[in-house]
Amino acid sequence: MKESFVVEGLGGKRTLVGEIPVRGSKNAVLPAMASSIIFNAPLRLTNVPDIEDVYRMSELLEHLGAKTEKVKKREYVINGHDIKDSVMDEVLSKKMRASIILSGPLLARFKKVTFPHPGGCVIGARPIDLFLSGFEKMGATVDEKKESFVISAPKGLRGANIFFAIPSVTASETFIMAGVLAKGTTFLKNVALEPEITALAEFLVSCGAKIKGIGTPVLEITGTNGKLLTPKIYKTIPDRLETGSFLILAALAGKDVTITHCHPEHIEALTDLLISSGVSIEIAKSSIRVKHTEKSKLKAFNIKTHEYPGFPTDVQAPTVVYLTQVKGESFVFETIFEGRLQFTQDLVKMGADIKLWDAHRATIQGPTPLKGREVEGPDIRAGLALLVAAIIAKGTSTINSIYYIDRGYERIEERFSALGVDIKRVSGE
Ligand code: EPZ
Repeated sequence: MKESFVVEGLGGKRTLVGEIPVRGSKNAVLPAMASSIIFNAPLRLTNVPDIEDVYRMSELLEHLGAKTEKVKKREYVINGHDIKDSVMDEVLSKKMRASIILSGPLLARFKKVTFPHPGGCVIGARPIDLFLSGFEKMGATVDEKKESFVISAPKGLRGANIFFAIPSVTASETFIMAGVLAKGTTFLKNVALEPEITALAEFLVSCGAKIKGIGTPVLEITGTNGKLLTPKIYKTIPDRLETGSFLILAALAGKDVTITHCHPEHIEALTDLLISSGVSIEIAKSSIRVKHTEKSKLKAFNIKTHEYPGFPTDVQAPTVVYLTQVKGESFVFETIFEGRLQFTQDLVKMGADIKLWDAHRATIQGPTPLKGREVEGPDIRAGLALLVAAIIAKGTSTINSIYYIDRGYERIEERFSALGVDIKRVSGE
């Protein structure tokens, strides 16, 4: 059943007040859930967000034979030890790119894994060449079928020296877990530095894995030669992308908003820019307070997305909405994905002045008042960006196919309503 959000825009007024809590990180908990495959006992995960992607990962694991149980609010126990099969369900896997993270643990443990072509999505082609070449370096053979890949390593994975041509986040996570179970030592070079990867590696070390260089671009992993680890409890770190999205909303429509349960230093690339733009921001240990700033005082700035700790591609869309509301010209260079600026056409329909030069570059002239409209949420982050645009616009907006927003943001309408946003979830036809 299709659901939509109906939003009564604030028409430029800055009235939002109160606190908004940040939930556990989607991009941290998904690899952690996949790691249940390399443990010899049930894995308990806490601070797990109630989002669609967590439900999909649970379903994927259950299809493989794992037992996943939500034991209480935001807490799961996943028994990956009982998994007997390593053929990933095609329909479920295609619903979420992150399903590919399962390939490493499954291949390492079962010496074989079958997964479907992940398929691109609205933000880009999203190839998997780094995964296939990495598995071959670890001694596996890749057999590309019409609809799927069958990867096998009858003798088990062996440690290898793998250089990532691109510091891919999920490839880094996949090969950390493959390396942990492999025979011998694996060197991963040009590893992504996102906090979610550090959190996974540190957790695995706490469970007995031997990983050196955590937080640096080079990891040395001494494999257990197939011996499974004994799990500790995994505590999901706060979602830095939720934090960034809420910062933008507060900067545009906040009178006095405090973002709580967050890791401010994980989103410094954005807070630094917003402070230099003129937003009144107070940073504490696990909260960020945004106070009313005269919009006319806010200045435009340029963004160029970059791997962590650079400006995150996942907060590019909400930041573009901010840049339509501040005085001056700004330039956006989306370096990571080729489809991530497509959503700007919906902002233009709402009244924004955005010129798309090519798939990666846009120029924005601000400020322009936005008018409420009916729009489709194209992907998780653009969906949230259009929701923020609807909240600051004048008039009513309807955002359709909000499944995408529910993929990455737990019951967002409840948390936004608590700040004073007039938003309703309505069921479609
Ligand atoms: C992760 O995706 C995140 N997802 C994405 O967040 C995030 O946008 C992205 O990293 C970049 O930060 C999860 O962590 C679950 P990449 P991932 O591999 O790992 C190219 C969200 O909204 N590439 O780091 O799939 C790729 O096409 C999602 O939460 C290859 O060329 O991204 C892209 O241009 C969206 N070959 C670049 O690398 C490969 O084999 C970076 O992608 C793999 C990737």
